[in-house]
Amino acid sequence: MSGGYGIIGTPNKVFASLADTLSVQGVWVPLRTEGKITGVFRTEVFMLGIIGAMAEEVELLKEEMEQPRIISVAGMDFYKGMVGGREAVVVRSGVGKVNGAMCVQILADRFGVDGIVNTGIAGSLKAEIDIGDLVLATDAVQHDVDATQFSYPLGQIPQMKVFSFEADGRLRAAAAECCRQVNPDIHVHEGRILTGDQFVSSKEKKAWLVQNFGGVCTEMEGAAIAQAAYLNGIPFLIVRAISDKADDSAQMDYEEFERLAIIHSTNLTRALIKAV
Ligand code: ADE
Repeated sequence: MSGGYGIIGTPNKVFASLADTLSVQGVWVPLRTEGKITGVFRTEVFMLGIIGAMAEEVELLKEEMEQPRIISVAGMDFYKGMVGGREAVVVRSGVGKVNGAMCVQILADRFGVDGIVNTGIAGSLKAEIDIGDLVLATDAVQHDVDATQFSYPLGQIPQMKVFSFEADGRLRAAAAECCRQVNPDIHVHEGRILTGDQFVSSKEKKAWLVQNFGGVCTEMEGAAIAQAAYLNGIPFLIVRAISDKADDSAQMDYEEFERLAIIHSTNLTRALIKAV
């Protein structure tokens, strides 16, 4: 995941800056010496797929995209184009685990993305994680999976080799660095993200989640996106901005802070597309 350039038959460094200058990505380029074609090299870039559940979560990125092509599959509009000089695919998946997982499969099959970032908002599960803060996933668990009847731990998907789905370390590190640059006033936390097909808005449910899974925030797509990415061998990261406290005040907080939270997560995603 270098975001670098693979060059056939020539040293990498020579053409990395050339490719940047030419803005050619992922294409074969003839290599000329004194006017003659003496070889070819291919610029290789790491193309990210960016998934937001709701229109608002990806609308800023879509607006900024240059030369977008819109490809509609399964009711989702995939915007493929350039963001900050890098090719990316930006899509609104719709809310919930099924939509999130389907979206990943389409990004894998139809677009061949190299990495997936799920951006959006979430409810905080920790007192020190405040509205407006950002969370980068270390891993993700589906809190609504319950096969305890068959001796699986709560949250474990039967017959899957892993309990939680681990975010890609390099994407995480790149995101943390980007965040320091583009959102310097925002606190960034890292930890387990809990996903379920439900909006959490009671202190009892929040306490239950923390007690059973110890997560840092809760939302409705991340771990399903993570599972689908894991099954396809695609590195992923979940980036969530906190819009509410996932308790009895959640609905009120959510409406008031959604916009601000989306600006923070979009700033980060934009920078990440350029950084990888
Ligand atoms: N997304 C934002 N806030 C949320 C919450 N409290 N529960 C589930 N998803 C959310």
